[in-house]
Amino acid sequence: MLNIRILATLVTTLLLLISASSSWGYRIGFSQVTTTEPWRVLFNKQLRAEAKKHPDIQLYIADGQDRTEKQVADVQSFIQQKVDIILLAPKESAGLTAVVKEAMAAGIPVIVLDRKINGDHFTQFIGGNNLEIGRQAGHKALALLGGQGNAHGNIVEIWGGMGSTPAHERHQGFVEVLQNEQGLNWLVDRQDGDWKQDKAYNIMSNALRANPKIDLVYAHNDPMAFGAFLAARDAQREKDMFFLGVDAIPKEGALWVKRGFLTATFVYPAPGIKALQEALRLLKGEKLEKYIDLPTQTIDESTVDAYLKANR
Ligand code: FRU
Repeated sequence: MLNIRILATLVTTLLLLISASSSWGYRIGFSQVTTTEPWRVLFNKQLRAEAKKHPDIQLYIADGQDRTEKQVADVQSFIQQKVDIILLAPKESAGLTAVVKEAMAAGIPVIVLDRKINGDHFTQFIGGNNLEIGRQAGHKALALLGGQGNAHGNIVEIWGGMGSTPAHERHQGFVEVLQNEQGLNWLVDRQDGDWKQDKAYNIMSNALRANPKIDLVYAHNDPMAFGAFLAARDAQREKDMFFLGVDAIPKEGALWVKRGFLTATFVYPAPGIKALQEALRLLKGEKLEKYIDLPTQTIDESTVDAYLKANR
């Protein structure tokens, strides 16, 4: 009799525990701008793996399909579902600022990743230091084109999405380093490649047709640098110039450096792991820093082997 009673109590306790633990769990909604680019795929993979380490976390990933309207709707749906935290990797700044404000007003913290939004109505921003990346690219270009005070050559710069902050910061850092060089010319004026290989291919094909001498291409990410390289190769001119990209993911940009397609690229760490760790700290009641910068590194002929070995 006693045994049955004890058993019954145990079962009830267990059932209570199970139901309590499912309501103890945290729900995190992540609005990712797109899932087609390799850098995004890596980002999601790392975030998912980090979330798996915590059984009390439920992670929902919404694919914005590279459209601002879709992303706004995704974030609104997370607000309606009353998730505990929203992570947002926005397509662009302006169009996603208001919906973040909405989430914050509804009491849901928002951690913004990679590309910034306008103003400061968000909980935290985590991303690579794009100004520093621009500067490192500038120093690399200086060294390749003759050195400080003596650099000469024609540069094609292919921009990432004009509405996004990484493009502007990567440009700004680059120009900061090179602006006093009298011997440098920018051949193409603010062409938006929207981070895409095929768009960069077209921009570069036009630049090649219009300019008999191009010395260096600086594209704001590796897919675009590779698109430019392919256009130059199709015109049999790829040996006449240097190609700089950004991201350095091992199976993409870093490999293209290894193969000699790109001259250099700069590490742009995906913020997924850090984002999840910070979300957990917030859920535990800790206060978050407003900005977290992730480190970069120049990947060129001299560093690529060690980098690939360390990041297999
Ligand atoms: C991927 C990507 C990266 C780039 C980043 C900038 O969508 O285009 O290649 O570094 O976004 O936000």
